Amino acid sequence: MVSDHPFKFSKPLKVLVVEDNQVDLRVIEAMLMEDEHAMGLLKTTNTLKGALEFLQEYEFDIVILDLNLPDHQGTTTIKKLHEFYPQAAIVINTGAYEAELGIDALQYGAQDFLVKGKYNGYTLIKVLHYAIKRKELETRLVKALDELRETQGHLIQAEKMKVVGGLASGVAHEVKNPLAAVKYGVQYLKEQLKTDDEKIKTVISNINEAADRANLIITDLLDYSGLSEMKMKKSSLNDCVVKGLALVNHEIEKKEIVLTQKFHEQLPDIEIDHYRIEQVIINVLLNAIHAVESKGAITVETLQNGETTVCLRIKDSGNGIGEQDIDKIFDPFFTTKRAKGGVGLGLSVCKNIMDTHNAVIEINNHPDGGAEARLVFQLKPTHSA
Ligand SMILES: Nc1ncnc2c1ncn2[C@@H]1O[C@H](COP(=O)(O)OP(=O)(O)OP(=O)(O)O)[C@@H](O)[C@H]1O
Ligand SMILES: [Mg+2]
Repeated sequence: MVSDHPFKFSKPLKVLVVEDNQVDLRVIEAMLMEDEHAMGLLKTTNTLKGALEFLQEYEFDIVILDLNLPDHQGTTTIKKLHEFYPQAAIVINTGAYEAELGIDALQYGAQDFLVKGKYNGYTLIKVLHYAIKRKELETRLVKALDELRETQGHLIQAEKMKVVGGLASGVAHEVKNPLAAVKYGVQYLKEQLKTDDEKIKTVISNINEAADRANLIITDLLDYSGLSEMKMKKSSLNDCVVKGLALVNHEIEKKEIVLTQKFHEQLPDIEIDHYRIEQVIINVLLNAIHAVESKGAITVETLQNGETTVCLRIKDSGNGIGEQDIDKIFDPFFTTKRAKGGVGLGLSVCKNIMDTHNAVIEINNHPDGGAEARLVFQLKPTHSA
């Protein structure tokens, strides 16, 4: 009796048998039904098309598959089935003359194979039992591999930031002094020249602006590596947003952007370096301002998620981020705004600041269009500074 077998399934089995030979089908069905209680669902079909329809409608643990179906033959049948429904174990049911095909089948995603006429109820259940166990292990292995790849990705990113950060701060220190000399020199010339020549005035003003811009970049670069000197204290995220908004207000007004503000009134304070967090907010707001057309919309919203986190959302009505760019936006020097003076440091500085606060910054395209940035802070102070 099959029910005497030692292979206990953790729950009733859900089996799909794909077999066009009626005799073979009856044999399998009879063997499976010997242990009726072990069977949660049993469906049969004689075509691949029928199999795919069943797989769409029901959940199965295992598919017993013949490779010689009227509408599909050979090992690609397994591939099709596996791609369509990767979560089920697959056991191939082959004729003795195709036994080698059975071995090939394992490479295409099947867990085991049966040779027709060479098995009984006991071996059938044994094969199904091990196929399901193997599938479970395989699924866990694939998940572990995915996690490993993700961790590896994070490590590479962290390493990249460290290298660029180190390089950048070195260069920044070197450039800061000559830049100060340029700035001072221009200022001096402006005072001493006292000329009415518009051309000379424009040139001086251009040099001044360029020096200011370069100084801004250098300051960003220095911030990038100077994060160890953070001044953490209990602060209000709402206040940081208000200050950030005040600093970019002229840009908002210039573009006639419709700004919606939704502040959570009882938002608990968080342990942050508020100056750094304001910097993050300003950078994200500036990106949103750049992204929207004139008279576009930006919404800022603060909220609390349960007892554990507070969050700031900044959503804009721009065109969002291109699919090909979404993985790169936090990379140092990645910009799609080079022609308009973008340097590509804004978000990498933000990410660095947020990492040091053990906080998270995510930017994604919103289903309604535009991009949405989410800044999430832990209520328990866990910064790693
Ligand atoms: N709200 C947004 N909508 C669309 N694209 C965005 C948005 N925010 C960021 N991006 C994309 O991410 C890129 C990187 O942003 P990041 O702030 O790091 O650099 P930047 O704005 O280009 O230059 P800067 O160093 O002056 O900030 C941008 O060039 C843009 O392509
Ligand atoms: Mg930016």
